[in-house]
Amino acid sequence: MKYNTPQKWWKESVVYQIYPRSFNDSNGDGVGDLRGIIEKLDYLESLGIDVVWLNPVYRSPNDDNGYDISDYRSIMEEFGTMTDFDELLQGLHQREIKLIMDLVVNHSSDEHQWFRESRSSRDNPFRNYYHWWPAENGTPPKRWSYFDLEDNAWKYDGQTNAWYLHYFSPKQPDLNWENPTLRREVYDMMHFWFKKGIDGFRMDVIPFISKDTDFPELPSEYKGDFIAYYANGPHLHAYLQEMNREVLSKYDVMTVGEAPGVTLDQALNFVDEDRKELDMFFHFDLLALDRAPGEVFKMRSDPWKLTEFKEIHSKWDAVFAEKGWGSIFLCNHDFPRSVSRWGNDDKAYWRNSATMLQTFSLSMRGTPYIYQGEEIGMTNIRFDSIEDYRDINTLNAYHKAAHNCDDLHAFLENEKDASRDNARTPVQWDNTRHAGFTQGEPWIKVNPNYKTGLNVAAQEADPDSVLNYFRKMIKVRKTHKTLTYGKYKLVEKDHEQVYAYTRSHQNEQYLVLLNFSTNEVEFPVSSLDFKKGVLLISNDIAPEALPSGYIRLHPYQACIYKLNR
Ligand code: GLC
Ligand code: CA
Repeated sequence: MKYNTPQKWWKESVVYQIYPRSFNDSNGDGVGDLRGIIEKLDYLESLGIDVVWLNPVYRSPNDDNGYDISDYRSIMEEFGTMTDFDELLQGLHQREIKLIMDLVVNHSSDEHQWFRESRSSRDNPFRNYYHWWPAENGTPPKRWSYFDLEDNAWKYDGQTNAWYLHYFSPKQPDLNWENPTLRREVYDMMHFWFKKGIDGFRMDVIPFISKDTDFPELPSEYKGDFIAYYANGPHLHAYLQEMNREVLSKYDVMTVGEAPGVTLDQALNFVDEDRKELDMFFHFDLLALDRAPGEVFKMRSDPWKLTEFKEIHSKWDAVFAEKGWGSIFLCNHDFPRSVSRWGNDDKAYWRNSATMLQTFSLSMRGTPYIYQGEEIGMTNIRFDSIEDYRDINTLNAYHKAAHNCDDLHAFLENEKDASRDNARTPVQWDNTRHAGFTQGEPWIKVNPNYKTGLNVAAQEADPDSVLNYFRKMIKVRKTHKTLTYGKYKLVEKDHEQVYAYTRSHQNEQYLVLLNFSTNEVEFPVSSLDFKKGVLLISNDIAPEALPSGYIRLHPYQACIYKLNR
């Protein structure tokens, strides 16, 4: 069948994200590792996924769990060795699963050899690998930092009487992409991994790499929105095109950029095939939906609305109607758990809402990204005490709040919904101690609900489990290619409880119905050829069609019909 977009393996893939630190610990030190992943290769194969995205496994002092890299060509000691890595890659390929790695090149660790050299003297050959502001020029213009106690992205370094730039923690100095030698180093490093046989990269905060090195005051058009400013560096697209020309175009690989600050109208600049930059990116509009205006890590006070959720996905789908390609994800290692956030983790609704969200991710246009544990419906842990948190972001924010005499109880309540650590508790494998994640003491607490059925082993044994629904839903997506490539169209767009859409191509049409509410809902289907429809999948007993042209959906029910036209 011919679709209106070129067919590609990465458009037809389901990507499964592994956060190695929390996946599976093979040697009892409490930290997940590469051999731990190797032990679970057959499990990964059994899911039916096509690609694994591995969060950073490079050598790192772990100020930000591997996003601070001190050697791009070695494996973090806690995670294992290069031999383990090669075995993992081979084991995945044997099972026809591809592997993509994280490319973290907006910044390195301050313990990287480049930075050690760079900071050692002003005339060191590596000086220009980073951004330095000589102190005799006065205080550098304001730049914000995500992970800095004073929100200051400049840190003064006495050794050379200069400030260096760090958009993230002071241990994550920003690399200077204006320097062609640095860019060459990055491309060489990418070739190193591609020659090993990896299948692509997820690119960390990639829109931030290009900076105006005159460091002007934030231009007024950004009205203080520093993220949008960071994402619009002057040479960004030139660099991405150069990277594509020098590296990506030489291999059959996929790329997905993490793209905070990138808006709908800029989207095609990254992924229009003719521009030869990236294949896909992750936008942040869904992340913002339940956050206070302009805040990345603070929850909004009123509940988010389904109509807003639909609008975000519909707008982003429309952008890629003719060109480019989207990505669909409901959580990752930086977000709380999807079922706790977009579904409902109360006992009565947990199973249906977890499977309803899987139905969504796996029936949309765009490549679906599933985060470890999502296949079994893992939930937020909601730590009560700051002692339990490990994430630099939560810990810094807590210190700031304490320093400012803010309401610390309110702070902790916010983190229960917002903290990245919700996603970082270990995968729950079985009902033995620490959920079978480790024989030792886990680096972060395991969610105690592993004891009550929320674990892989229990769900393997139950044909109706979240896990087995996930496998079934992947098969539905694979069997009906129109669910990958077909046109997306909203049905009853203003309905406040049900997200309904069709996916169609030529004479084929599918209807997806997702009840996002705790109510039983009667949903109108009379505008569709519903009567001749065949139910392909449902996470509950088959919905009842009412004579009035309505269909009755249970709370959080999800189903897909193939309509006959
Ligand atoms: C990205 C990563 C996040 C990390 C940050 C800095 O947002 O997903 O985990 O802290 O970049 O590298
Ligand atoms: Ca370990």
